[in-house]
Amino acid sequence: MCGIVGYVGYREATDLLLEGLFRLEYRGYDSAGVAVLNGGEISVRKKAGRVHELAKLVDANPVHGCLGIGHTRWATHGETTDINSHPHVGGNGEVVLVHNGVIENYTSLRTFLQEHGFVFRTATDSEVIAHLISYHFTEQTEQGGDPKNSATAIKAVEATLKRLKGTYGLGIIFQEFPKMLIGARAGSPLVVGIGQGEYFLASDASPLVGYTEEVVYLSDHEMAILSPDSFELLHRDSGALSPSIQTIDQVAADVDLGDFEHYMLKEIFEQPQTIENAMRGRFDEDEATAKFGGLNLDPQQLRRIDRVVLTACGTSWHAGLVGEYLLEEFARIPTEVEYASELRYRNPPLTDNTMVFAITQSGETADTLAAMRECKRKGHPTLAICNVVGSTIAREADGGIYLHAGPEIGVASTKAFTSQVTVLTLLALYLGRMRHLSYPAGQRLIHQLKSMPEIIRKSLDCFETVKNVAQKYSEFSNFLYLGRLHNFPVALEGALKLKEISYIHAEGYPAAEMKHGPIALVDEVTPSVFVIPRGGIHPKVISNMEEVKARRGPVIAIACEGDTKVDNLADDIIRVPDVEEYLQPLVTAIPLQLLAYQIAVVRGCNVDRPRNLAKSVTVE
Ligand code: AGP
Ligand code: GLU
Repeated sequence: MCGIVGYVGYREATDLLLEGLFRLEYRGYDSAGVAVLNGGEISVRKKAGRVHELAKLVDANPVHGCLGIGHTRWATHGETTDINSHPHVGGNGEVVLVHNGVIENYTSLRTFLQEHGFVFRTATDSEVIAHLISYHFTEQTEQGGDPKNSATAIKAVEATLKRLKGTYGLGIIFQEFPKMLIGARAGSPLVVGIGQGEYFLASDASPLVGYTEEVVYLSDHEMAILSPDSFELLHRDSGALSPSIQTIDQVAADVDLGDFEHYMLKEIFEQPQTIENAMRGRFDEDEATAKFGGLNLDPQQLRRIDRVVLTACGTSWHAGLVGEYLLEEFARIPTEVEYASELRYRNPPLTDNTMVFAITQSGETADTLAAMRECKRKGHPTLAICNVVGSTIAREADGGIYLHAGPEIGVASTKAFTSQVTVLTLLALYLGRMRHLSYPAGQRLIHQLKSMPEIIRKSLDCFETVKNVAQKYSEFSNFLYLGRLHNFPVALEGALKLKEISYIHAEGYPAAEMKHGPIALVDEVTPSVFVIPRGGIHPKVISNMEEVKARRGPVIAIACEGDTKVDNLADDIIRVPDVEEYLQPLVTAIPLQLLAYQIAVVRGCNVDRPRNLAKSVTVE
């Protein structure tokens, strides 16, 4: 899923490219590389490992020039070695490119190119694109194209793109054309930044912050031809287009770490604020309901909805599971939560009045995008609950709700989860008030929701206790996370957080379902984390806890302040404020985020950049 940057203008490209790659590192960090047109030659520097390894290499062996491309990789094809790192060189060095995506027909293209004498240096799928451009460049010149004219190169790229199956975001430069940077996309995001006498290319807007506020998001099958003073936008089928310029409002400070040691911790502690942001301006107190600016559906359409499908991946999918409880409880609308990766290839029977919500922090997750497109194709209104403004999913949805959580940099999602749950709660209130929910019930919900930022602030006080618990259990290799009803998705989320950043095996389960199998795992060295706030089902969860204790399993309880029932059963207790059951996921998620964080810190893991992962999964 990689991050791509490109620059053409008057500044030293390498500095900009490296800075951009640092900002895009959340998209992948298996290796990094740059290519810069340096006195008529394209110089490539690339290295396995994080961007700072590349920075050291460039420091030792600098490259100068005002045209360049860069890449930070999340490997799909070929090991994470120096040689497989991007940029990749085509033919004899006449073209160099960076690629984000997967070329599904790379095997047949590779064979074709080998038959035409091309020698492959890497095991990646991306290298075929570079050689194929070189092949078509030669073909164009053989057909009379002028090798000194950039139109010949553009035609070679167009011919190449027609032969690719799969997904790509590309940054391409040619040795012969020192003022031309080409960007092309199909399925992987790409944005052009517009400067004065300079243009930028990037996978998202973060590398552009501080350089320009004017951007153009490319759509699929569009190609941008950039020079220091021109920008041409071409579509595969419709030819030249006039770019639609948008403004980014991100400020550089949003991506600063401040006093925190890690982005994940910073983002956990931002949650009182981000939950407030998710609610700001969205209450209609007179009508005791919520309001949204961008759903783009009229009340009649909304009233007709008889089914909701929430589709997402990972943490966003867990937020969707909480949403299912809320929508069914308050709006009484049958709701299903589908893994986007499954939904995109399934054909579930959906009614005419099914509304589809894609839930996504990044707005770029390939599976979620594909599932949304599939539902759209079938005529369902598709809406997005999304954090990143201007992302592909946000743009392609018929309407939606932004989280306004600010950039989430830590690979493990935290603040996006609680913001998604907050927005889903508002949505349940809104759709509920159009149906069965009474005025006083609406008022009560609004009142309780408004107190959440302060309650979340108090929940964060458990961090000191969490640190002791983390110290005690950091050496254990297996954990169970157990919860019921609204807290079952929280158990899943807690387990995912621990797996992701501390590489400890953890399973989330409905607490009572555990006795149908996972209880076989319980022993003295398998702790169970019980999410057991107060509620109707509390005594039942206490019984599940007894079952674990009876088998000598250590128990960590996430329990409400003043709940004495857990005192004699749990080995360790992390206290959270007592709230209504439907709001508990917001509160109980906090200690689980902190626990995963602290265990990872104690184990010396790279919290913000866990192995094998990337923030934004833009490949299938
Ligand atoms: C969360 O900690 C994960 N890194 C991951 O599961 C993530 O939630 C998933 O990839 C979905 O991302 P999205 O919300 O940006 O679509
Ligand atoms: N498929 C390319 C590679 O493995 C790009 C991967 C990506 O975009 O994540 O190098």
